Amino acid sequence: MSQSSPCILVIFGASGDLTKRKLVPALFDLYRQKLLPERFAVLGVSRSEYSDDAFRTYMLENVRKYHNGDGLDKALLKRFIAHLYYQAIDTNDAAAYATLKTRLDDLNDERQTRGNYIYYLSTPPSLYDKIPRYLGAHDLQVQGEGQGWKRLIIEKPFGYDLASAGALNRTIQQIFGEEQIYRIDHYLGKETVQNMLVFRFSNGIFEPLWNRNYIHHVEITAAEFIGVENRGRYYDHSGALRDMVQNHLMQVLGMVAMEPPSRISATGVRNETVKVFDALRVYRPEEVSRYVVRGQYTASTVRGEAIPGYREEADIPADSRTETFVAVKAFIDNWRWGGVPFFIRTGKRLPTRVTEVVIHFKKTPHHLFTENDQCDVSCNQLILRIQPDEGILVKFGMKLPGAGFQIRNVNMDFHYSDLTDAYIPSAYERLLLDCILGDATLYARADAVEAGWKFVDPILRAWQERPEIQIFGYPAGTWGPRETQALFDEPGDDWRYPCANLANDGEYCEL
Ligand SMILES: NC(=O)c1ccc[n+]([C@@H]2O[C@H](COP(=O)([O-])OP(=O)(O)OC[C@H]3O[C@@H](n4cnc5c(N)ncnc54)[C@H](OP(=O)(O)O)[C@@H]3O)[C@@H](O)[C@H]2O)c1
Repeated sequence: MSQSSPCILVIFGASGDLTKRKLVPALFDLYRQKLLPERFAVLGVSRSEYSDDAFRTYMLENVRKYHNGDGLDKALLKRFIAHLYYQAIDTNDAAAYATLKTRLDDLNDERQTRGNYIYYLSTPPSLYDKIPRYLGAHDLQVQGEGQGWKRLIIEKPFGYDLASAGALNRTIQQIFGEEQIYRIDHYLGKETVQNMLVFRFSNGIFEPLWNRNYIHHVEITAAEFIGVENRGRYYDHSGALRDMVQNHLMQVLGMVAMEPPSRISATGVRNETVKVFDALRVYRPEEVSRYVVRGQYTASTVRGEAIPGYREEADIPADSRTETFVAVKAFIDNWRWGGVPFFIRTGKRLPTRVTEVVIHFKKTPHHLFTENDQCDVSCNQLILRIQPDEGILVKFGMKLPGAGFQIRNVNMDFHYSDLTDAYIPSAYERLLLDCILGDATLYARADAVEAGWKFVDPILRAWQERPEIQIFGYPAGTWGPRETQALFDEPGDDWRYPCANLANDGEYCEL
């Protein structure tokens, strides 16, 4: 077992989707790898009535279904499940926290966890300020000599806009110190996102080129093949900008654009991230339609299957103006990136599921090989594939053997799957373990969250206040509205299209 301290993880929202699909399976995967402390317990909390045994039986099924590793050792699973407990309370009810406190005291005695507690908020966001306040009212946040440590993990979404994110920060910080607060963004738990730091800062090859002198523009794409599924009510209130850009894609942008931190530590890395967000150019309302394109999918047929339009989906109003696609041309106004556009796009019902960063290097200053040169816009690219088929690819021009100088675009690629013994932990495994170990490097800090909202908030407000800003339809299964092309100024520049429109099953796509 690891040297991490004994602790209890209290999951608020234990009967919910995230707990069963991600959190408990990730804990099992940590347990399987002997990465959890020996003295460890999970206390599930929500309103539904379960006994400890019923909760364990329910989670057993879910671990079987959703765990990450190959095969399943039944005896091990049984031992893991015995670490789970359940307490039904309504977290809206301040008095109910006395029951929680008693249960925690008992469990702490039973499991000898030294008063070390992690509270994981996986409830509807409307409870994110209430639960910490009520925990505080019962001194459940108090830490120190003889009382162990206390940490709080908060799921996304962190706020609905700048004002609500700021208010939530202030409420929580009245009870928990910033060093106790872990705002989760599961993108930061992805191996390939973390690898950007290693790729950039442990290799002498690329970093000298990583600036405005050599990079023409950067693309960040997060495409989803699926639509809103059964999350229509939530999604229509959120939209692509809030759901994907404000958190996940901003974090990816931070990794791509940050200065080298003086050391890899929570302070070092997060100081540099916040500087990137602070340097993002904020658009005035009249600039929004020039730099931001929003879209909504319309009905279409994808590989023979009729796909309803967004407005025909369950729980979506017939006149909804929520964006299911957004493309942003962003600028980081600092010394390294002055004038380099960052094109960020995300959407639902696109041709495939893929998340990648494409670094487009500048062309050579003079075009020497004019005869049959295929090394056009798709050459001189470095592609960092975050999911699926995680890997890194360089695209460059090569001479075709034979007379003259015919140039072909070729790939040099690395796939994580080529590391035959590499086990890629799920993002939640990594992040839960980091929190148990007290390492907040891969969690968002209050100032970064607010700096991110400062960029996003004016766009949301412009959309709300200026109905003349268009929302463009795009047929399901295409790469979004045609108008996204207009974000590029230079002739010949365009997005990378990892798969042709309507091309595949949405699961896998060749680099
Ligand atoms: N699911 C995902 O993949 C995912 C991904 C990223 C972020 N998130 C975020 O994580 C949070 C949870 O998501 P989810 O999908 O798991 O939601 P969910 O399935 O709706 O679960 C919500 C949980 O909160 C509990 N709850 C609601 N009101 C409560 C109350 N008054 N007192 C105690 N418990 C209460 C519910 O249980 P009872 O009804 O039994 O009380 C349930 O366990 C959300 O904020 C979501 O935005 C989810």
